[in-house]
Amino acid sequence: MLKTSIQQSVKLNNNIQMPMVGFGTYSLLGENCIRCVSEAIEAGYRLIDTAQMYSNEKEVGKAVSHYKREDIFITTKLYSPSAGYSQAKDGIQKSLDNLQTDYIDLILIHEPYKHSLDMYRAMTEEYQKGRIKSIGISNFNSNLYSEFIKHCGVLPAINQVESHVFFPQLKLKQILSEKGTVMQAWSPLAAGRNNFFDNHILKRIGLQYGKTSAQIGLKYLIQVGISVIPKASSQDRIKSNIDLFDFELTDDDIHSIKPLDRGKSLFGWY
Ligand SMILES: NC(=O)c1ccc[n+]([C@@H]2O[C@H](COP(=O)([O-])OP(=O)(O)OC[C@H]3O[C@@H](n4cnc5c(N)ncnc54)[C@H](OP(=O)(O)O)[C@@H]3O)[C@@H](O)[C@H]2O)c1
Repeated sequence: MLKTSIQQSVKLNNNIQMPMVGFGTYSLLGENCIRCVSEAIEAGYRLIDTAQMYSNEKEVGKAVSHYKREDIFITTKLYSPSAGYSQAKDGIQKSLDNLQTDYIDLILIHEPYKHSLDMYRAMTEEYQKGRIKSIGISNFNSNLYSEFIKHCGVLPAINQVESHVFFPQLKLKQILSEKGTVMQAWSPLAAGRNNFFDNHILKRIGLQYGKTSAQIGLKYLIQVGISVIPKASSQDRIKSNIDLFDFELTDDDIHSIKPLDRGKSLFGWY
């Protein structure tokens, strides 16, 4: 029996509730993936983020199979082999099979492709049949997003993009919010780049609350309304990255963190 998870959720544009904090699984493989996902669920994560590209959907499915299906929100993503209408239909079936489930909570187009609209049409049909509960996109900048929503029909529930204290993409967040798409941050810890964990501003703020720089950086995103999916592989880090709901950053804290924004990707995107 799962303990109640202490965290926030956000209502998507189709009225589905999604946890604000999820567990990222990029680079977790085999038994290690099963262990980390199981530890994450025990620590309170109720959203698991995978992708066909990560080659770990089967392991995620195995870890999740020990829990009631409706207790866990599973996100996966289709990538270039699924870039087309019939290819996306096949891709959706492949993810359902890999994850050993009869529905997926959220499927995203992993990045913009020439045939994104055809992929999305296939996703929309499966969404309407109930085999996918929500559909969305990933790595669409503001121009690509604005163009996409002119033609896509069902408004994407989520746009998952790079976002962390060094490049939060607050303008994109505002554009998405105005239209009704929730922004979700990949690499919310900047994958440790730019000396994230030793950043003196995050450390100083953390000292006031007994929190780490990781927790302050994650909390900042949550407080500005961005969902986060940090990845970690040690049990301590898995636990601490969701231990975010017993304190609030003040306006002064937020004001101190904002200047860390460099206005450009740390990963060469956008
Ligand atoms: N849609 C996309 O194109 C896209 C792109 C990138 C990522 N993603 C998703 O977003 C998730 C998160 O991004 P990410 O994995 O790139 O990076 P991240 O979550 O920003 O950072 C993960 C790194 O930080 C370390 N770490 C985690 N918590 C820590 C802590 N409390 N203290 C010190 N170090 C800590 C981890 O180390 P250990 O693992 O050793 O614990 C790992 O090296 C991915 O796993 C994936 O699910 C999506």
